[in-house]
Amino acid sequence: MQIKIGFGNMTKGNSRLTTRNRVRGVIPGKQSERENNEARINEILAELDKLIGLKNVKELAREICAYVKIQQKRLQEGLMAGPVVLHMVFKGNPGTGKSTVARIIGRLFKELGILSSGHLVEVERADLVGEYIGHTAQKAREQLRKSLGGVLFIDEAYSLARGGEKDFGREAIDVLVKGMEDHRNNLILILAGYREEMEYFLETNPGLRSRFPIHLDFPDYTVTELLEIAQLMLSERQYQLTEEARRELEKILRREVIFGHRFNGNARMVRNIIERAIRRQAVRLVGRANLTREDLLTITQEDLARLGLGSETLSLGTGVFQPEIPLPGNLRICYNNHR
Ligand SMILES: Nc1ncnc2c1ncn2[C@@H]1O[C@H](COP(=O)(O)OP(=O)(O)OP(=O)(O)O)[C@@H](O)[C@H]1O
Ligand SMILES: [Mg+2]
Repeated sequence: MQIKIGFGNMTKGNSRLTTRNRVRGVIPGKQSERENNEARINEILAELDKLIGLKNVKELAREICAYVKIQQKRLQEGLMAGPVVLHMVFKGNPGTGKSTVARIIGRLFKELGILSSGHLVEVERADLVGEYIGHTAQKAREQLRKSLGGVLFIDEAYSLARGGEKDFGREAIDVLVKGMEDHRNNLILILAGYREEMEYFLETNPGLRSRFPIHLDFPDYTVTELLEIAQLMLSERQYQLTEEARRELEKILRREVIFGHRFNGNARMVRNIIERAIRRQAVRLVGRANLTREDLLTITQEDLARLGLGSETLSLGTGVFQPEIPLPGNLRICYNNHR
């Protein structure tokens, strides 16, 4: 786990600094307004806390909240305060919660007064890179414009450096770097992608690394965490598992983790399994008369049977697998995933 926060140059506290422009995160207003705002911040933090795992993300959110509040108090006392630099790099495999966290962070930063609207614009290479001279700058500027006041989230960001010196991806990087400087008071850039690729990307673009002081790791979920995610998703949809169904799901998830964790889509895989089971439950129930509330709530083992990536094609016998055992680094098994 790695959390680093960089702070911009400190500004000397005096009467001219009491505007929101000078120090982001300073929210003026009446007492009742501030209380409402505090309540919304707590709601967003509670939403973040509900996510399974992601301890480092939760810690970071609290650090930033505390920092912003203390800056407000320092300003009130005429002390030095500095703008906080919050551009981030998210490193992790598909389905580890990167987009979900980016969305929550945008909303949190809005309530903290760091961003004016807090919306998320999620883009990939094709949204930023054009096909002829001048096209890239136009496309990248358009995405920056759409993101103003919020978060510009670039998925598989390393692909911008994919094509070598002559590729238009480089031009997109230059436009983004300029954009993040020009709009540093009202735009947060998040670069996301696989850990190794992002490391390589930042190593080969040293100018970029220093501009992204916050690096967050999104590790693959363990079987225990995947099960908790499943339970959370089910309860949010007002469904519940029978004990047999829970055991069946655990069996499926163990298999998925053993066979190709990096590729299996983590929490997204869980969501797909859950949604499939819910459709199966509907088919099981649809022709029946006299359905009870309990029937409608309950997912049974039958609804989950033979779901999961490898489970229809692989026979694993009765091997007992420890969920937290890491996979050998070179284990690469690819098959259709659930997307
Ligand atoms: N820690 C978690 N707790 C509960 N639900 C989660 C968690 N992480 C992810 N999810 C859920 O899993 C699904 C996939 O998550 P998300 O889209 O954020 O992943 P991602 O890292 O952005 O994936 P990708 O790289 O493929 O875009 C979403 O429905 C999300 O709500
Ligand atoms: Mg995503």
